[in-house]
Amino acid sequence: MSYYLWFEGIPFPAVGFEKEIIKETCDNFVMRDEDTVILTYPKSGTNWLIEIVCLIQTKGDPNWIQSVPVWDCSPWMETQNGYKKLINKEGPRLISSHLPFHLFPKSFFSSKAKMIYMIRNLRDVLVSGYFFWSKTKFVRSPESMTTYFEWFLKGNVLCGSWFEHTRAWLSMRESDNFLLLSYKDMKQDTKSTIKKICDFLGKRLEPDELDMVLKYSSFQAMKENKMSNFSLLTKNVAANDLVLLRKGMAGDWKNHFTVAQAEAFDEVFQEKMAGFPSGLFPWE
Ligand code: A3P
Repeated sequence: MSYYLWFEGIPFPAVGFEKEIIKETCDNFVMRDEDTVILTYPKSGTNWLIEIVCLIQTKGDPNWIQSVPVWDCSPWMETQNGYKKLINKEGPRLISSHLPFHLFPKSFFSSKAKMIYMIRNLRDVLVSGYFFWSKTKFVRSPESMTTYFEWFLKGNVLCGSWFEHTRAWLSMRESDNFLLLSYKDMKQDTKSTIKKICDFLGKRLEPDELDMVLKYSSFQAMKENKMSNFSLLTKNVAANDLVLLRKGMAGDWKNHFTVAQAEAFDEVFQEKMAGFPSGLFPWE
């Protein structure tokens, strides 16, 4: 696997990341009580969640998300650029991360910083990842869905195993400073999810402000916003036809998995996620 940067057995993108920065983040990043962290396994709807949280902060005013790239609105703590931006920023910070639980800076666990963790049906995560990474040059590109399927089940993909990432972060789900969301619920009733996020963050929005958050974070609005649709990615890292906002639906995996693949997946899911209450995964 030549297209990854490996750190502590976890594959990171080969561009925009540096071992020393990842290590510094994991070992020494100082979380502040007033920080908000958005944490996901890649392709779970991270950028959608970031857009919503940003819009909540501006009470629905789209100016910020329409003038600043999404990765700068909420910088990625483990990246070269994001790390520098975050440590130099004063006041409350909005922080994004895909780090697995065991690598996440320990200072978070003794702070009052808030974390929003979003989960998505791993079958859709797989399909979304397959189409996305096929068009990028910073991770190992799969030549077929079958190949990617195998890599995914073994955890030989960006950020490692979905099962390990999710299992470990879900151990936080009873904590007061941890909000667990699912892509499916957010898709089914975006307004209620936005309200839930507001309650968690202690923000109050007027009904018209809430409507603005909904409007500017919609699939169509984000697809048209060049600050959020990844069209700003340069040619050295992404193909011209790369799209972040591909389908934006729950259940697209059914259009791509064979019956045998679906069965194999069910088996692995049952085995690896055993012990969690059945209602926790809204897609199951
Ligand atoms: P698909 O590839 O299935 O379309 P991430 O931001 O973690 O990389 O996740 C990308 C996925 O989130 C993509 O899924 C993308 O379409 C979906 N997404 C992004 N913005 C969305 C929105 N406003 N509404 C619904 N889905 C959205």
